[in-house]
Amino acid sequence: MFTISTLLVQIVSGIVLAQSPPSHLPPATPGLFDAHANILINASIDKVWSILLDFPSYPDWNPFVRSQIVTDADFNPLADQTPRENLRIIIQSQIPPLKPPVSATTPANPLNAHTTMENITHVDNAEFAVAWALLDTPEINAERWSVLSDFEGQTFYESREVYSGLGAAAVELLFKKGLNEGFEAQAEALKERAETR
Ligand SMILES: *[C@@H]1O[C@H](CO)[C@@H](O)[C@H](O)[C@H]1NC(C)=O
Ligand SMILES: *[C@@H]1O[C@H](CO)[C@@H](O)[C@H](O)[C@H]1NC(C)=O
Repeated sequence: MFTISTLLVQIVSGIVLAQSPPSHLPPATPGLFDAHANILINASIDKVWSILLDFPSYPDWNPFVRSQIVTDADFNPLADQTPRENLRIIIQSQIPPLKPPVSATTPANPLNAHTTMENITHVDNAEFAVAWALLDTPEINAERWSVLSDFEGQTFYESREVYSGLGAAAVELLFKKGLNEGFEAQAEALKERAETR
């Protein structure tokens, strides 16, 4: 039987669907807190994927991750910067992020500069999913997933990093807000770059 309440459910779920594309992130691992952002980008999924994986160009546009260098297991930078599973990355970030827009010559704020050593844990070109995990800090577990999906001809970008482990409480206290600002700033800058170039 058709009732007012089923109608309401349909309207409300319709509104929710219209606002948020379905998530393609893997289920979140349990943790203390996360940093995340997502954004709808009016560009092809292939274009956004190539910008996301083009780490050498990050300094040109990314206000949060100022540099991301692919290395071998001993952290020696590689000539081929194509991300592959089980290669390492050295990430230099600004927490909170720099004020956009940025270019390669935008100076870092040394007070907010952080360097982490990470492992590339997943590169799935068919599913447009990539992840890397913190390596150098044994008391903190954190894996950052970034995935793309097609949504009504546009590209839905989602990124999430869940923090767990003994050190996560300190990271939450010091950096939760700045990390989330960073994820958001990167999402907005990725959209800007994909839609305007
Ligand atoms: C996406 O961009 C195209 C031009 O490339 C434009 O025609 C279209 O209206 C845009 N869609 C949205 C939802 O902004
Ligand atoms: C890096 O990730 C790969 C792929 O998930 C995994 O097999 C490997 O054990 C990881 N290496 C380290 C040092 O964590």
